[in-house]
Amino acid sequence: EKGGFEHFMLKEIHEQPKAYRDTMRGRIDATGKRVILPELKLTHEQILNIRNIQIVACGTAYHAGLVGRNVIEQLVRIPVETDVASEYRYRSPIVTPETLVIVVSQSGETADTLAALREAKANGAHVLAITNVVGSSIARDADDVIATLAGPEIAVASTKAYTSQLIAFYLFGLYLAEVRGTQTPEAVTEIIQAMQELPEQLEGMLENSDSIKAYAEQIAHHEHLFFIGRGVDFAVAQEGSLKLKEISYIHSEAYPAGELKHGTLALIEEGIPVIALVTQESVYEKTVSNIKEVNARGADIMAITYEDHVSTLLKSVDQVFAIPKTLPLLTPALSVVPLQLLAYYASLARGNDVDKPRNLAKSVTVE
Ligand code: F6R
Repeated sequence: EKGGFEHFMLKEIHEQPKAYRDTMRGRIDATGKRVILPELKLTHEQILNIRNIQIVACGTAYHAGLVGRNVIEQLVRIPVETDVASEYRYRSPIVTPETLVIVVSQSGETADTLAALREAKANGAHVLAITNVVGSSIARDADDVIATLAGPEIAVASTKAYTSQLIAFYLFGLYLAEVRGTQTPEAVTEIIQAMQELPEQLEGMLENSDSIKAYAEQIAHHEHLFFIGRGVDFAVAQEGSLKLKEISYIHSEAYPAGELKHGTLALIEEGIPVIALVTQESVYEKTVSNIKEVNARGADIMAITYEDHVSTLLKSVDQVFAIPKTLPLLTPALSVVPLQLLAYYASLARGNDVDKPRNLAKSVTVE
């Protein structure tokens, strides 16, 4: 049942290239130039009328929604807010019939997300669910569903569900951009082509991940560490931090790289591990200067970046894990994978129950 893998989590990490292909299949037209989402009831007229988008989810699905916000805002220039479902409901969010609410849920049964969906509908919003379970309560109650086709996810720590949620956001963002005419056809084609390369790029990464295992064994005896990044790198940092916490029980915090010096830098001391995501060219220099700030305080830094930055970064960091080149918006679909493996191997090194971490359940049906 675990397909030769020691744990469901490792199996599911390795299923991600397939999940990417399955989630994209049939949703890109034969010319490779357009996204088609025939399942959507949302009309072009409704899309043209959208004034704001609210993405609502919990945990890992919320982190996918943070990337989704960047994707939609950059591609479509519609204002997007991403909220944790248990907060969203109680802040009386401003929802109108021109609001599109996107709920994201692997299981489709998360109580807070379901309640947020119902509330948004009651306020007249159109609700789109991105879910991995088509027969779920959330899929049934939503006006529209984009199914992620990751297959059943058994490990409590979500991996392939998260990355296929990212693929769903890329597809939906491109679809909105086409309908609203906010991207040139060339730009759309370029993104689609880069998306189609992701599965193979990921396969290559999974074959060459031994250094992550060694690094995980090195951090396994630490009690605190930090993840830093900017833009979508910060969104991925938050997911990396959650993954590590839930299965290795190592305390970590994800910080926007530029925010450290406003307080948290006080916690950086000799030998503390810091994992820096450095994939966004537009803020590369700024992130490097934040890395130098922590390096100067003696942090032990591991950077996740592109091959062409490795040699310069090695002047300020201790280790580097290189990811294949892709477009800036698409990097989360690759850069999160070393963090999933890091959490996995750190959990293993600590002798924890990887697939069934203490205190946690796969589906959270209480509010
Ligand atoms: C983390 C994890 C949880 C879930 C969260 C939402 O690895 O699995 O944070 O992401 O409980 O669950 P779904 O997506 O089923 O709504």
